[in-house]
Amino acid sequence: MINAASIQEVMSRADIVDVLGQFIRLKKRGVNYIANCPFHNEKTPSFNVSPVKGIYKCFGCGKAGNVVTFIQEHEKLSYPEAIHWLADYYKITLVETERTPEQQQQQLASESLRILNEFAANYFLDVLLNTEEGQLVGLSYFKQRGFRKETIEKFRLGFNSEQQDAFYKAALKKGYKTELLEQSGLVKNRNGIVHDVYRGRVIFPIQGMTGRILGFGARLIKNNDKAPKYINSPENELYNKSKVLYGMYQSRQAIGKQDECFLVEGYTDVISLHQGGIENVVSSSGTSLTEDQLRLIGQLTKNLTILYDGDAAGIKAALRGLDMALSQSFNVKLVLLPTGEDPDSYIQKNGATVFHEYVKEHKQDVISFRLQIGLSDAGTDPVKRSKLVNEIAESISRINKAEDFSLQAHYIKEAAQKLNVDETGLVNLTNKFIRERVETENRHNRTQPDVVIPHEEILPINNEPIIETANKEEEQEWQLLRILIEYGHLEYEGAQKVAQLIEERVDPSLIEQPLINKLYTEYYQHFQHFGATPELHYFINYPDSVIRNRLASLLLPEKEISPKWKDRYGIETLSEQMNYINDVNSSLDYFELKKILSMHDKLTQKIKEESDPAKLDLLLREHIKYKQLEREITQRHKPVVYKSNKINR
Ligand code: GTP
Ligand code: MN
Repeated sequence: MINAASIQEVMSRADIVDVLGQFIRLKKRGVNYIANCPFHNEKTPSFNVSPVKGIYKCFGCGKAGNVVTFIQEHEKLSYPEAIHWLADYYKITLVETERTPEQQQQQLASESLRILNEFAANYFLDVLLNTEEGQLVGLSYFKQRGFRKETIEKFRLGFNSEQQDAFYKAALKKGYKTELLEQSGLVKNRNGIVHDVYRGRVIFPIQGMTGRILGFGARLIKNNDKAPKYINSPENELYNKSKVLYGMYQSRQAIGKQDECFLVEGYTDVISLHQGGIENVVSSSGTSLTEDQLRLIGQLTKNLTILYDGDAAGIKAALRGLDMALSQSFNVKLVLLPTGEDPDSYIQKNGATVFHEYVKEHKQDVISFRLQIGLSDAGTDPVKRSKLVNEIAESISRINKAEDFSLQAHYIKEAAQKLNVDETGLVNLTNKFIRERVETENRHNRTQPDVVIPHEEILPINNEPIIETANKEEEQEWQLLRILIEYGHLEYEGAQKVAQLIEERVDPSLIEQPLINKLYTEYYQHFQHFGATPELHYFINYPDSVIRNRLASLLLPEKEISPKWKDRYGIETLSEQMNYINDVNSSLDYFELKKILSMHDKLTQKIKEESDPAKLDLLLREHIKYKQLEREITQRHKPVVYKSNKINR
């Protein structure tokens, strides 16, 4: 268990913009930041981050939370693992209470693998640099490939001895269990004899977006063997080859900055490009690109440039995954290198300047590329040509966004000309593919239960900041809670805290929604117990994810004052902070009014039932008093009616 004070320290140090900025590209928008949501595919950003409140919320998919939940969701970690991640990042030493043997056993398999991989990478680097065999075989191989020392360190490259079990012995000595070692794929048990899997190979650790080592690739040094050139880690709790891209950790910042990602085939291509100064590059390590990998890239940029060898295999590889990228609205470009060259050899020979020039001159868009390859392949064969027409139409049909309409028209024209077919015919064929896809998607959707969309969500968005909603009573109650959470600790006209004022003036029995009432009560329990109002993250970090989500929505409203307004009226930052007194007043008025109205109702009932004239007179006087109070409140302050926030779909 991590000590509570340590968690506090992590929470207070963690800066949401800094941390999220490691994974997604944040753009400033007013006091908040926006980005394309990393949790679902989208073309326009609806992921909002509030640095002041320390929370994020996606208005597209509804995911919301704070810096810890982000790490949990994004990196697929448990709560304590996420705290560990942040502690690592901020170099905070966590104080942990002693683990029981039971808890030790419960430690997640992935966590153990991660620790083992970290040990292994350090071991392999040490063998490479500090043993005779490592220097003679491994290091001289890297030298011969032109890798410099700092490059080796940047990518944490290593070497393992040719001996049967040098690594296995070292790992056993460190206390790692054979079972875990086998699971990691670093050793193998053959007929009762455990041996190292990577023997006499140079080693490429595969790091995740945050730098953790998820697995390894290991390359033979002498190419004469019958053994495979590369051996990769097996799939396990930690390593999932379709979800990682080699080089992502070292390249992520450059990809964001350049707003472009180069995709290459191999480990050595990534490394050589980095060494040559081109740092926005990743590799799918010989497998075809997956949707998860594209999503990973898509968090950083939508401009994908595929750099492959100009030979047949390279072209085939380049064509894989293309349609997927088009559907995910990537702007995909292709560059084929001269025959016999890969990015590694090309940059080593020519340097970065020539490389950039080559890329600039040979960048092709997908459809033109398909056309060129397809035409030279098909020649005059009518069957092949007709197949090509279909393939091209299918590709064009994937460029199907409204904003790409003219691009689509451009391709149709170009393709019709080059394929020597009728333009209208090609349009029809393309439309047929679009229709077919829509139908398949609909069929797929129909298998899911019908979802009833509330009216307010399908109506066009109204620009009025204040909108009446169906259940404004409940909304007022949510707003009271929001005011407490956000402003409870602030002073109200010098004398007391907002929380104290609200406690005095609001009758909690008037809060009818049970969940709000529960949270309201919890707030004051905390206040009484600790003598201080709960911190914002007490609520943002609420264990129940439904509540947490609702609170994040509440605290990060979808509407902000538009920049146009600011320009037109010269309002610099009409922040909510400046207006909190108004917020508090109007909320208090609402509950006071509600109280009066309910007393008024009771009184009316009494008046109806009363027969004694003297008592009736008293009641009537009281009635007048209430009426007057009611009028006073409504005149003083027409209570603000809040627009309800969208609740998760
Ligand atoms: P070098 O030959 O050292 O320049 O490496 P490379 O990265 O250029 O290798 P190559 O172009 O032959 O292959 C591209 C990528 O495919 C490699 O980086 C590996 O990820 C993968 N690959 C190549 N050969 C094998 C193999 O035998 N087994 C596996 N699992 N992957 C391989
Ligand atoms: Mn190569």
